[in-house]
Amino acid sequence: MYRLAVFGNPVAHSRSPQIHAMFAAQCGISLDYQRVLVPPGRFLKSASDFLDQGGMGFNITMPFKYDAFQFAQRHSTSARLAEAVNTISVTDDGTIVGDNTDGPGLVRDIRLNLGWTLENQRVLIVGAGGAIRGVIRDLMVCNPAQVHIYNRTRRKAEDIADNVNDARLKSVIKGDLVAGYDLIINGTSAGLQGNSLALPASIITGSTRCYDLSYAKGSTSFLNWCSENGCTALSDGLGMLVEQAAKSFNIWFGESVATGSVIAALRDGAQDTGP
Ligand code: ATR
Repeated sequence: MYRLAVFGNPVAHSRSPQIHAMFAAQCGISLDYQRVLVPPGRFLKSASDFLDQGGMGFNITMPFKYDAFQFAQRHSTSARLAEAVNTISVTDDGTIVGDNTDGPGLVRDIRLNLGWTLENQRVLIVGAGGAIRGVIRDLMVCNPAQVHIYNRTRRKAEDIADNVNDARLKSVIKGDLVAGYDLIINGTSAGLQGNSLALPASIITGSTRCYDLSYAKGSTSFLNWCSENGCTALSDGLGMLVEQAAKSFNIWFGESVATGSVIAALRDGAQDTGP
């Protein structure tokens, strides 16, 4: 029996236990995957205790991805660039390795599950919080033609653009937004709080694809807004959630799991405990 967990606060909503149980069933692996509610300031102690007590690794969700970055002794490229870790594993010689599977999970969902291209596309990213910082570099690697990043608090978008330092990525204000992006990615938490983003409808045309990093039963408020403004190709972040988990599972067990049936099961709502 392998012991794994997801650390977060809050964590009760996390679907990771169900997702990893489905992966484990596919591979005939016996798994005990728990949710661990970590009190503020207690991450390092909780993480060390879990590994000392035989845990083989764990996932990390908000707000501990930076703490996990500091906890790791070695980092994957994605983790180092994002300065955020969502997957901890331990090598045979005891080295604690931090990985970030969010960016690869998003890219895989967009390209393989949805069949959308990123190459040569004009992309608008809305938001500049931890969720966007975690995926931006993996998006840039896919060779978009141009990426605009817009955020309510402009400084945070500028910080990301400065940090990534790629001529194709530019922070923009509302007045700079252009008509008809090829792809719009929402990484804000506005919808989760019941707020709208107040974006101009002109950013969407009939061929614009819209992706929301968050997900909700039914649709998200961002995707509803996109649809009302003429978008016909849209997706929430459920596929990304499953893909980032699949990559974590691969890091721990070396197994490549099928994700389609897991996404469908979650979509069905049979496993729905989420927000
Ligand atoms: P996460 O780690 O999930 O990205 P975060 O770091 O708190 O969370 O970032 C939340 C993002 O949603 C930010 O880009 C935030 O904008 P600000 O930087 O201006 O705070 C954005 N956001 C949250 N509520 C919003 C709202 N009502 N309108 C616009 N943007 C909002």
